[in-house]
Amino acid sequence: MVLCVTPGKREAMNSIMKCDSDKPPSDASARPMMRSMTNAVFLTFIASVRGSPRVFFSYMGRMVRRTLNRSSVSVDRPLTGCRFRATLRAMFDWSALKKPIIALSPMADMTDSAFCRVAKKFAAPVVFREMISAEGLVHGSEKSFAMGRFEQEERPIVQQLFGADPKSMGDAVRMIDEAYSPDGFDVNMGCPVYKIVSNFNGAALMRDAKLATAVIESMRAATTKPVSVKLRLGWQEPTEVLEFIKVVEAAGAALVTIHGRTKAQGYSGVADWDMVGRAKRNVSIPVLCNGDVHAPETAAKALEVSGCDGLLIARGALGNPWIFSQIDAVLQGLPYRTPTLAERAAVVREHAVLHAELYRGDLVSFRKHLTWYFKGIPGAKAYRDAFMRVSTVAELEAALDRYLTEHGDARAVTPVLETAVAA
Ligand SMILES: Cc1cc2nc3c(=O)[nH]c(=O)nc-3n(C[C@H](O)[C@H](O)[C@H](O)COP(=O)(O)O)c2cc1C
Repeated sequence: MVLCVTPGKREAMNSIMKCDSDKPPSDASARPMMRSMTNAVFLTFIASVRGSPRVFFSYMGRMVRRTLNRSSVSVDRPLTGCRFRATLRAMFDWSALKKPIIALSPMADMTDSAFCRVAKKFAAPVVFREMISAEGLVHGSEKSFAMGRFEQEERPIVQQLFGADPKSMGDAVRMIDEAYSPDGFDVNMGCPVYKIVSNFNGAALMRDAKLATAVIESMRAATTKPVSVKLRLGWQEPTEVLEFIKVVEAAGAALVTIHGRTKAQGYSGVADWDMVGRAKRNVSIPVLCNGDVHAPETAAKALEVSGCDGLLIARGALGNPWIFSQIDAVLQGLPYRTPTLAERAAVVREHAVLHAELYRGDLVSFRKHLTWYFKGIPGAKAYRDAFMRVSTVAELEAALDRYLTEHGDARAVTPVLETAVAA
């Protein structure tokens, strides 16, 4: 039997080899793939001549596995050029996700790789990583660049950026996409912090529809991944979002999240889910409601009032990553489990180990997570000082052991979340 590579087969092969950018593979990483493919065709020919399909299939299996491993995005070796693996992976699509979408909201200094992995473990279907400065990226900040790293288990992952210069925002998207290939990008148009809005970043972009449009369009032009936007209800008036959301949709945003407060409100008052719902009804792209969903029971209410396609959970997930599986249970009409002290301590340990790996063994920056993990937990107040002094995983383990010995480890406890605000 003679193997004949027909034009149709050649086309199919070409389409498998296609880059994200639709350009021919341009860098050295594509060449070994080409060689493997050529070898495969050659072996197919030999195997077919010998009439041995087993040889053929086992070779093909090995070849595909090897190719995938070679082209995976690695933390130590950021991938440039053709992204074979990304091409094989189904493209992330907000509209195709199972509804309601209950995702982890971006939080500066909090939703890093370590915390996102813990949230994923408790069924967060999508995670938004903390914002990165586009200017920091384009001006060569290594710290900003390193913030974009993630592990494959965090997928689907959306990287949020902040900035107001359309060119820098496009360049920043390109840099992160080339190096790490997240599943989507998000632009911060909601941050109310003075340091951010004084540079016309964050919520300030809601005051300039033209600039906001240019930013979204530049980001979209830089990637094939969906670009989403995170808004507030407005700068001053909660009704501003009703028109602004149409601007964002017209600029090509694939999804919008609305935090139900204005910039002027900061974090005071109550999130207005009803106004979020009114804005949602003005567009046809998916909209997520955000703000004040701090308990599983509240999730159903926020969805009902806003009529949104899902929720972004921020403070409700801090020290409480279980909230995602608990919301899942509530939405299915099932009772949810509250972790015992021992289970809580085990997750704290696991999170601390991941955190220490990420920050070269240092646990000082983990203390803020400890505050959240033990907020409102019986007896934890007495251990606060001990927790606030830990600098290593070993010190944390010793403090946790002392706490568990004293308080037993079988009780299920739900922390009391104060609505007081962190940022
Ligand atoms: C510590 C902290 C950091 C935050 N950082 C970001 C950020 O990087 N990007 C962003 O869009 N929102 C950020 N936010 C806002 C949250 O994502 C969310 O919109 C807000 O907290 C309201 O939701 P919640 O009531 O569920 O907390 C941050 C909030 C907190 C508490």
